Amino acid sequence: MNRHAIVICAAAAVLATIAVSTRLRGQTPPAVAAAPAAAPDFVKDIQPIFAKSCYTCHGEKTQMAGMRLDSRESVMAKEIKPGSSAESELYQRVAGLGEHARMPMGGKLEPEQIDLIKRWIDAGAA
Ligand code: HEC
Repeated sequence: MNRHAIVICAAAAVLATIAVSTRLRGQTPPAVAAAPAAAPDFVKDIQPIFAKSCYTCHGEKTQMAGMRLDSRESVMAKEIKPGSSAESELYQRVAGLGEHARMPMGGKLEPEQIDLIKRWIDAGAA
């Protein structure tokens, strides 16, 4: 083998190694693949947000606007239209849409919390 051929062989070996390792990295084992996001759950995902940011004004002791958010029945009564966040007063308030005051009054939720509430309502508010 002359020098030229050795260089070509070495280059081919490097390329082959890169190709194989790229192929291996491209194969995601099924267990690692992300599962589709499940619909948010009221007790697990939504109630903690209300407890932290809303109960002071819409809870057991104080019910501003005559509304309490510490019971699912009262939340569902008129603030939420299952399946449609756009038509749900509660979503409009936390997202700051429409002309009414944004909630929680004097602050705002994190974007991820607002998104959770939206997905929860759009999935049927179960
Ligand atoms: C500091 C007190 C305060 C906090 C905290 C607060 N609210 Fe309110 N909320 C009010 C007041 C006062 C009103 C009535 C005035 C108005 O309609 O803007 C109201 C009204 C509302 C209404 C409209 C009720 C209706 O039928 O007219 C919704 C929905 C609402 N709040 C949701 C929330 C949510 C959800 C949170 C927590 C993320 C929250 N609020 C936190 C004070 C608060």
